Amino acid sequence: MSVVKQHEIYRNFFQICHPLIAGKLSLLRQKQTDHKLFRELVHEITLLLGYEATQNLKTTEREIQTPMESCLSSFLADPAPVILPILRAGIGMVDALLSLMPSAKVGHIGLFRNEQTLQPEGYYFKIPEDSDQCHFYICDPMLATGGSAVRAVSTLKEHRVKSITFLCILAAPEGLKAFFQEHPDVPIFSASLDRCLNENGYICPGLGDAGDRMFGTW
Ligand code: PRP
Ligand code: URA
Repeated sequence: MSVVKQHEIYRNFFQICHPLIAGKLSLLRQKQTDHKLFRELVHEITLLLGYEATQNLKTTEREIQTPMESCLSSFLADPAPVILPILRAGIGMVDALLSLMPSAKVGHIGLFRNEQTLQPEGYYFKIPEDSDQCHFYICDPMLATGGSAVRAVSTLKEHRVKSITFLCILAAPEGLKAFFQEHPDVPIFSASLDRCLNENGYICPGLGDAGDRMFGTW
């Protein structure tokens, strides 16, 4: 049985259903989990998510020499992919993705959600030069209203990036609807599809504020 569940309503939404992820996610949600354990769990879940989300990475063959003989063997093709964390909480997913793709470059996009309007406000953007030919992996643990995710993808497209995958840990149905209205071409890989948003735009059952829990700033 595949661990990747493709949803009927959202054809480009892939939920990774695996007992290891489920157990770690339960610990992540628990309010008594401190920031050290929270960061470790985000890292471990991202490793498992990242394994599935990178299944379409292109490879190229080169000749190598084993102790026994020479043979053609696969390597990740150039150009190297780019990881784009949405600051702050996306930072917690970067090291796991880098350990899966050591040659990847890392851009950054700074967005914070205005608590009144729930709209994303941008404060930083930096990607490698000539990255329009690269595949981008945007990472952010939370896709709530979808505003931040939509803005991050739109910004990359404005910079002529054509190939993007979005990774998150929790997604809300309201956010997925908004996201796919704008960017039906961008696949999302997530550990969970949660029930709904509350009146303040927080995911329920959710895990609270991911950035604050990750960095101990509540
Ligand atoms: C959180 C989260 C996402 C965003 C999701 O960040 O990490 O970036 O909210 O919400 P949305 O889908 O409604 O846009 P936040 O804006 O709280 O910033 P922070 O990571 O700096 O705390
Ligand atoms: N951002 C978070 O960190 N958590 C939510 O539930 C919604 C947005």
